[in-house]
Amino acid sequence: MSQRLARPKGTFDILPESWCGEPWKSSALWRYTEQILHRVAERFGFDEIRTPIFESTDLFQRGVGPSSDIVSKEMYTFGDRSQRSLTLRPEGTLGAVRAIVENGGEAGDPNYRNEHRLYYMESMFRYERPQAGRYRQFHQFGVEAVGLKAWQSDVEIVDLALNICKSLGIEDVQLQINTLGSSEDRLRYKGALQDYLTPHKGLLSEVSQRRLRENPLRILDSKEPQDRELILNAPTVEDHLSAVSKERFAKIVQLLQRLAIPHVINPQLVRGLDYYSHTVFELVSASLGAQSSLGGGGRYDDLFEMLGQKARPAIGFGFGLERLMQAMQKGAGAAKGCDLYLIGLSDEAICAQFFLAQQVRGAGRSAIVHTESSKLQKALQAANSCGARWVAIAGDQELRKEGVQLRDMVLRKERFCPIDQVVSSFGLRCD
Ligand code: HAM
Repeated sequence: MSQRLARPKGTFDILPESWCGEPWKSSALWRYTEQILHRVAERFGFDEIRTPIFESTDLFQRGVGPSSDIVSKEMYTFGDRSQRSLTLRPEGTLGAVRAIVENGGEAGDPNYRNEHRLYYMESMFRYERPQAGRYRQFHQFGVEAVGLKAWQSDVEIVDLALNICKSLGIEDVQLQINTLGSSEDRLRYKGALQDYLTPHKGLLSEVSQRRLRENPLRILDSKEPQDRELILNAPTVEDHLSAVSKERFAKIVQLLQRLAIPHVINPQLVRGLDYYSHTVFELVSASLGAQSSLGGGGRYDDLFEMLGQKARPAIGFGFGLERLMQAMQKGAGAAKGCDLYLIGLSDEAICAQFFLAQQVRGAGRSAIVHTESSKLQKALQAANSCGARWVAIAGDQELRKEGVQLRDMVLRKERFCPIDQVVSSFGLRCD
């Protein structure tokens, strides 16, 4: 009997569409989504960055913060043969920041740039309890804008995140936004929360009791009912913001309103990583169930200093690709499959279709020539299983007239089209 082979817990395979039970695991949908993400990021002036899959453990300990769940219990950390401690990246911001510092030179160098707009699409690793929407190896699309300090840039980044959802046809998204204030504001607020919660410590959940000392802000986004009751009357971050921080956030909210960007201010949104200050936000989709956060991010003006560098303002966000695709599958769904399926009804017609396929591919679209049988019905079934929206059919009659019958597989309509007009005549797949 053959031995059972199984992938590690919390991971999944991305497969050809015909054999994956869940549409979001289809490799065609991944490619389609990735293409759109590249295009939208580039439209906003962001360049791609790719960093190593592992980094020195210390980078994440210092940057993400020792009291975060990621550092305290979720990292895949190992020693290499030279006893260096390395960690599979649990998120993308730290690698991007490290790469900017390492490759970007010093202020005053001729190639030094003050501003960076970078994006990445990479695997991340967190040892979490697997469930729908939560994996141990998952993928993030993230952007990091470094050197941008103005409050308007926060709105631009939020707008980019919303544009991503829109371009993927995800309608059911709520933007939640909050401010954590400056590091001084946060410190004041941390003290106020500790003063309020410490007398009730015994009533808090076990996890929150542990968080009370190091990271009381995280208690605010606890889902435990006993914590929720106490949080209701807890002091709010707003009461501890300086006038400058308050004004900054008010201007952001006003611009969102002017741009008619729907949003909800969620005073309990704190995010799970320690590097944030001022604006934090999340994009939430009700269709995703318990793991409802499609993506999130915020400003991290203190991170460079936390890593022993000269301070640089920065803001970014990360989306989970799995969750994006699960939301797409629940919404309108993405068009996919080949652009044009070419059927020849005779040997000669099949050969002629190769010339047309070359033109189609030359124009940047995908084409499959049906070579296996000249029975129209069978060929149309094959076109359907390739997800083709358009089919070009040629028999001897069409060959004589130098054209094809162009068939729209969705509307089930067909018309004659001269060969030299085919490329411009069928619909674009993913624009
Ligand atoms: P994060 O909120 O930890 O932020 O992760 C961003 C997104 O990654 C989440 O909203 C979720 O969609 C996805 N995600 C996180 N963990 C998992 C998991 N175990 N399985 C599946 N998806 C997951 C960050 O990572 C920040 N680096 C974002 C950022 C960039 N902030 C500023 N710049």
